[in-house]
Amino acid sequence: MAMTAMILLLLRGVAAILAIIVVRFLYHGYAHRRAVRSLKAQGLPILPHSILFGHLPIFAKFKKAHPPDINVYVFHTWLAENCKTYFPDHDYLPSVVYLDIWPLTGSLAMVTDPVAVSQFTIAKNEPKVDVVAKFFHPMTLGLDTLTTEGQIWKTWRPRFNPGFSQRNLTALMPEIIEEVSIFADRLKQVAGKGDESGPVFPLMDMTTDLTFDVIGRATLDIRLHSQTDQSDSDSLKKTFFDQIRLMEIFENIAQGVIIGRWPWQQAAVARNNRTMHNFLLPQIQKRLHSDSWIGQKATVLDLAIKHVDTDAPDGSQKEPTLEFVDRLIANLKTSLFAGHDTTAATICFMMKLLQDYPECLEKIRAEHDAVLGINPDPAHAAQVLTTSPHLLHSLPYSLGVIKETLRLYPLAATVRQPPPGYYLTGADSVKYPMDRFGLWASAPAIQRHPRYWPRPNEFLPERWMVSEGDPLYPATPNSWIPFSLGPRNCIGMELAHMELKLVLVLTARTLEIQEAWSEWDVLKGAKSTPSHTVDGQRLYQIGTGLVHPKDGMPVHVRLRK
Ligand code: HEM
Ligand SMILES: *[C@@H]1O[C@H](CO)[C@@H](O)[C@H](O)[C@H]1NC(C)=O
Ligand SMILES: *[C@@H]1O[C@H](CO)[C@@H](O)[C@H](O)[C@H]1NC(C)=O
Repeated sequence: MAMTAMILLLLRGVAAILAIIVVRFLYHGYAHRRAVRSLKAQGLPILPHSILFGHLPIFAKFKKAHPPDINVYVFHTWLAENCKTYFPDHDYLPSVVYLDIWPLTGSLAMVTDPVAVSQFTIAKNEPKVDVVAKFFHPMTLGLDTLTTEGQIWKTWRPRFNPGFSQRNLTALMPEIIEEVSIFADRLKQVAGKGDESGPVFPLMDMTTDLTFDVIGRATLDIRLHSQTDQSDSDSLKKTFFDQIRLMEIFENIAQGVIIGRWPWQQAAVARNNRTMHNFLLPQIQKRLHSDSWIGQKATVLDLAIKHVDTDAPDGSQKEPTLEFVDRLIANLKTSLFAGHDTTAATICFMMKLLQDYPECLEKIRAEHDAVLGINPDPAHAAQVLTTSPHLLHSLPYSLGVIKETLRLYPLAATVRQPPPGYYLTGADSVKYPMDRFGLWASAPAIQRHPRYWPRPNEFLPERWMVSEGDPLYPATPNSWIPFSLGPRNCIGMELAHMELKLVLVLTARTLEIQEAWSEWDVLKGAKSTPSHTVDGQRLYQIGTGLVHPKDGMPVHVRLRK
């Protein structure tokens, strides 16, 4: 009897808790839907909105028209292309497009014009939305520049800026060339004999190894050997990727994921942290005592370490505090995180565009012949640049190729949190209330916007070389935003540009890199997905966060005669 009563009581308790969860869920949903309704009542442009489902039906339509692994950034371009369907009175998307796709995400607004984007990145530097910091917490406990805000960010960001400047990175050019030469050599080794193409492989694997090694050189001047050591050892790279995998499992009530990491996964997070810590700490200690690296070059880390004096409690002491060292380590991991797949994916999309626009590839080759000498051997170009590093900054066409790649394939964009009562005023002169809407700079929409970019969907490196007054001249400030804008922009832009240029210089004249989907399908067998295409292309943008190329971009390589 007592037993039954207890079970009943327990069941009632569980039912009550479930009811509370459901009611809270419904209440949140109602609040989201109501907020958008009230904006509509104020006469603001709103996508067709269902009181039950918000904008989910539009998002569902986008998903249905695309392969299941499509990246959400393609939604921005898709919406811009279908503007007339959803905003019949508009020629272009409104400056702010409110999105109500709760419970997939909280409230977000796509900001699609450069005037409005500059208001929260340049004029005011608003904080990032807190999901970014929550996601990144296991990696650095919030000790890094990517996710901290306020005074800590203001103190630490300038400490890293000098090391990432073009001038100071140029001093490290020989070291970086060494890593990119290995990349060029690996590509050559997988090329076919004579006229033949070699076997198919995902280019992204090789570019990721490269970017890892380059960051090791630029930040610490150490060799991480990601490119050369393919064994399954407990390398920094392997530990790092395992950590990212574990970070991706996280509590997210908006998405209905409540459990988060299991205890054994938490233990793995701690173990990975220890492994990375034990690897990076001695590297820092070695360079803390400046006499031990005399004669070597100043890296990003060395230039940041100088501030140990200003941070020391009595001003004279050279021993850093634990916190100082922890922040250095956190920022090294952050460089690896923010710099590896961004640059690696950009190399892939750049190769894709050069394949599709062979006349541009010819122009690049001509530029390299003219500036670096007609000997196309990568070893020769490497030698010329090692003695005259500044020549890398005299390749305007190559830089145009890079900027145009990042215009057509932006990989990420900043999302900022507005303070209460915040407004944006668009180029359309409409005043948009932004309370509680994440401010999502829409790089994909802005960078293909027909008002700012003539022939917006064409790959035209020339537009970066013409002078003011030419119809192709990119005349609108802040309409190119792949590295975000303002003081909180990407610290690694110069490093990325340098690495991308070196990749072009050391591969364009000797290799032909081509997508190889039929070989890939044979290799993948039943696991291949030939029906997945976007605009007729097998290579499309995938990933749940940063944009990655589909299947890592399967290619094969041929030697150029
Ligand atoms: C093509 C390559 C790259 C692209 C497209 C890119 C893009 C971006 C973007 C859009 C942001 C702003 C993120 C936000 O506001 O949430 C950012 C920030 C950042 N990036 Fe990059 N990035 C690239 C390469 C690199 C490299 C090579 C490094 C370092 C080695 C790096 C380090 C950082 C850091 C530390 C931040 C945070 C800066 C701060 O908050 O103060 N990035 N990047
Ligand atoms: C990683 O481990 C070190 C040493 O045990 C510790 O000082 C640090 O706070 C840990 N960091 C993270 C992100 O857990
Ligand atoms: C390069 O580093 C030095 C410190 O060694 C610094 O004084 C200088 O400002 C840096 N250069 C740039 C362009 O940031």
